[in-house]
Amino acid sequence: MKEVMIPNGSIAVEAKYIEQVISDYRGNPFIEALPNLISPHEVIEKIAVYPKYHKSERQIEGYYRIHMIDRLFQVFQPLPMSLELENKISRALRQGYISRNPFDRKLGEDFYNEYHKGQAINLTNIDEDYSSPLGFSLIGISGIGKTASLNRIINLYPQIIVHSKYKDIPLSMYQVVWLKLECPFDGSIKGLIYEFFTEIDRLLGTNYYEKVMRARATVDAMMVMMGQVVRNSSLGLLIIDEIQHLSMAKSGGSEKMLNFFVTLGNAVGIPLVLVGTPKAINVLQGDFRQARRGSGSGGDMVCNRIQKDEVWDLLIKSIWHYQWTRTETPLTDELSGVMYEETQGIPDLVKKVYAIAQAYAINTGKEKITSQIIRKVAKENLKLVQPMITALKTNNIREIAKFDDINLMEINFKDTITRTKESIKLDLKVKEMMNKGKKIKQDNLNEEKKNSSSVNARSEVKTVQPNKVERKAEGRKEKDNQVDLNSEDIRFIVEQGKNDNKSAYESLKKVGYIISFESDIFSKEVLE
Ligand SMILES: Nc1ncnc2c1ncn2[C@@H]1O[C@H](COP(=O)(O)OP(=O)(O)OP(=O)(O)O)[C@@H](O)[C@H]1O
Ligand SMILES: [Mg+2]
Repeated sequence: MKEVMIPNGSIAVEAKYIEQVISDYRGNPFIEALPNLISPHEVIEKIAVYPKYHKSERQIEGYYRIHMIDRLFQVFQPLPMSLELENKISRALRQGYISRNPFDRKLGEDFYNEYHKGQAINLTNIDEDYSSPLGFSLIGISGIGKTASLNRIINLYPQIIVHSKYKDIPLSMYQVVWLKLECPFDGSIKGLIYEFFTEIDRLLGTNYYEKVMRARATVDAMMVMMGQVVRNSSLGLLIIDEIQHLSMAKSGGSEKMLNFFVTLGNAVGIPLVLVGTPKAINVLQGDFRQARRGSGSGGDMVCNRIQKDEVWDLLIKSIWHYQWTRTETPLTDELSGVMYEETQGIPDLVKKVYAIAQAYAINTGKEKITSQIIRKVAKENLKLVQPMITALKTNNIREIAKFDDINLMEINFKDTITRTKESIKLDLKVKEMMNKGKKIKQDNLNEEKKNSSSVNARSEVKTVQPNKVERKAEGRKEKDNQVDLNSEDIRFIVEQGKNDNKSAYESLKKVGYIISFESDIFSKEVLE
């Protein structure tokens, strides 16, 4: 696909029209310009994300490995829910465009009418115009992967397509295939509309936001404009995430917003995908449901939590693969069971618990994942969501909705990992101090050796009691700089290393004066 840069906007692709297998989709440039329909197999292949990983990474120092754990969060394992969602989106998008074929007389008429009637887009009249739009709502508990799946799926489509000519008919248009907005925290319509214009401006290089602000337009007027822009930009799919925030709207606010959505869906004919946690059910079950039932909807999709079956096996296996502890721990039924029990199969928690467990195992030098570690880190880090996890076990969505205020995103695993990184730094410091102690001892020993012109062997040197060396030896060191140092002397080693562009640390480590942290018995005592 050839990419073009829209002036002041984003990157778009040039339309390439593909012959359609399905007759309903033929002769519609908006549909023909979309990527081909693909089989579920291809969907899985395209939306899955398995970042690079190599077992040899286990051998790297712990403080590097802690950073690698972050890679775990990139994994995306397609689940049956993702396939269902892809199917719904793919259909909604195309069905939405059927009724908005730019060569259809109706579309032109609508533009004309709207223009001449001024603010005539009818915000209340919801049961006329286009054939049933195919929007739907997607409900699922926090952390189940609604946003992650959606993002993977919409990225199968280019966001902007540029049309210039369709079968020798000039067609100069931008087609915005999808747009994803987040419902503002306070559920305000104004906030959402501003977000809409800002996004369109970013994509198409327009200045709608500025115009709207300058005109000090009322919410109603802005809604009309939004309808126009949706039509103008041939928007294919409007996704609104975090719809549960509507329950925070001022009284009447959520109703107004929902009414607006329904109107957009029905009058403009754009499929709407509303995404939220179970808390949104109450909002969506008011007038909204009634309105949508009348107009026919694409059906709602409720993502149930992942049951402990093959789906869970699939998820845990794909995540478990990314393990950076020195000792490999294969996934056993027991470990899988413990993971499920502690996280109730919520992918977000699974990743966090697994990541923290690895960080803990690396940090403590245990370097192995055990059920005890998993339970321990889950207990310590998931305190906030315990009531929700308990509710999940009941499998009652209303019960779960009660705990919806607990946002899983608040469990900040990054904090834990950062703490781990810091404690590792601290450990290194302890080690550095130990090494410094050794260095002083060694310096003293060398003095002793020189004084007594004793043997070179390191083993023998170690037996010399450092406290026999008098402090005044320190004072003499400066003068002795010129003296030929024996090859075991750390000053000699450091000097030699300098010639090879090595740091003092590297040189000393090479000859074994600095031992690796993991093999230092003392480190275990420091950490326990
Ligand atoms: N199928 C999956 N495979 C791998 N990781 C997943 C999967 N689904 C979700 N995740 C991970 O779980 C985390 C949370 O997912 P996401 O943000 O999509 O949840 P959500 O349902 O949108 O939650 P919220 O309602 O709080 O917005 C992300 O880090 C995501 O990578
Ligand atoms: Mg989300």
